[in-house]
Amino acid sequence: MNVPVRAHEAVPASPVEALSAILSSELTATDAEIAASLHSPVGLIPDVAHHLVDAGGKRLRPLLTLAAARVGGGVGPGAIKLAAAVEFIHTATLLHDDVVDGSSLRRGRKAANLIWGEKASVLVGDFLFARAFNMMVATGSMRVLDILARASSVIAEGEVMQLAAIASGEASRDTYLKVIEAKTAALFAAACESGAITAGASDSDVAALADYGLQLGLAFQMVDDALDYGGLTRELGKNTGDDFREGKATLPLIIALERADGDERLFWQRVLARRHQPEELGQAMAHLRRTGAVEATVEEARTRIKAARAALDRLSRQDIVTALLGDLADYVAARVS
Ligand code: IPE
Ligand code: IPE
Ligand code: MG
Ligand code: MG
Repeated sequence: MNVPVRAHEAVPASPVEALSAILSSELTATDAEIAASLHSPVGLIPDVAHHLVDAGGKRLRPLLTLAAARVGGGVGPGAIKLAAAVEFIHTATLLHDDVVDGSSLRRGRKAANLIWGEKASVLVGDFLFARAFNMMVATGSMRVLDILARASSVIAEGEVMQLAAIASGEASRDTYLKVIEAKTAALFAAACESGAITAGASDSDVAALADYGLQLGLAFQMVDDALDYGGLTRELGKNTGDDFREGKATLPLIIALERADGDERLFWQRVLARRHQPEELGQAMAHLRRTGAVEATVEEARTRIKAARAALDRLSRQDIVTALLGDLADYVAARVS
């Protein structure tokens, strides 16, 4: 099945753009904070970090932090530092993740591990993690430090959990949900929660925004996993088919296995045991098509998007920013059309 990705340009009025416009001076300040924090006398560090940071990325997580701060009471200097810290944590995980996944393309560029090697990627990732903590400390809030420190360890747990699941060849929804909550949704939740806290939001608004982030993060990763089977490399800026090559039990594979006939079951079992060839991707796609597994994955994401919207409804005040956060949730699913 072909799952075309909408080019960003084709959706000029996307909620990401609308939110970015509302928060444009805050985003500019965040980018300045990010650039300033990349400095190091050890030249290889800014070389590797700039390669990734200058390639852009959607800046979704810092946008969430800033939007949550706006909803929570207003964006102060603390929220800018947090937004930069959140993007640093994300960037560090990308450097590490591409080593772990053996990926060769990131944000439309050759992955850092291919240019500078795996050792440099891991060490510069460590540097970015540590710098993120400097920025969090600068906010002076032990509460946000606790939330983001916890999210950082949970991300690592998610990646290790996934590594163990790949090694054991298991494919279960339960493990999948635990993995994506840890590796992806925890940072989305922490980005929202910490932004709201620095703005002095009420406990119930903080909880609602954290829930929104969690559900959005789950949906985001499900859609990303759907795109790994049907998206376009050109538009994603990363290679598709990586999950299949690795024998990773993402939701499309899990659903295809649940709905498999005899031959398909043997096929997926061979994939999970990593006794397959990357060239068999075409056959995998045929099985996914027959079982409707990619559409079913997107349906699962839609359930989380509804939950994300429901969390926003609990906020004490509704305005243009909360409305756009709701649209942003729909937009995550619209990446697969
Ligand atoms: C990539 O996240 C990692 C996942 C959680 C799938 P993004 O798709 O937000 O990456 P960038 O920052 O836009 O490159
Ligand atoms: C996303 O990992 C989560 C983290 C980077 C921690 P994936 O491996 O699923 O994402 P992509 O496809 O490389 O962006
Ligand atoms: Mg990866
Ligand atoms: Mg990975």
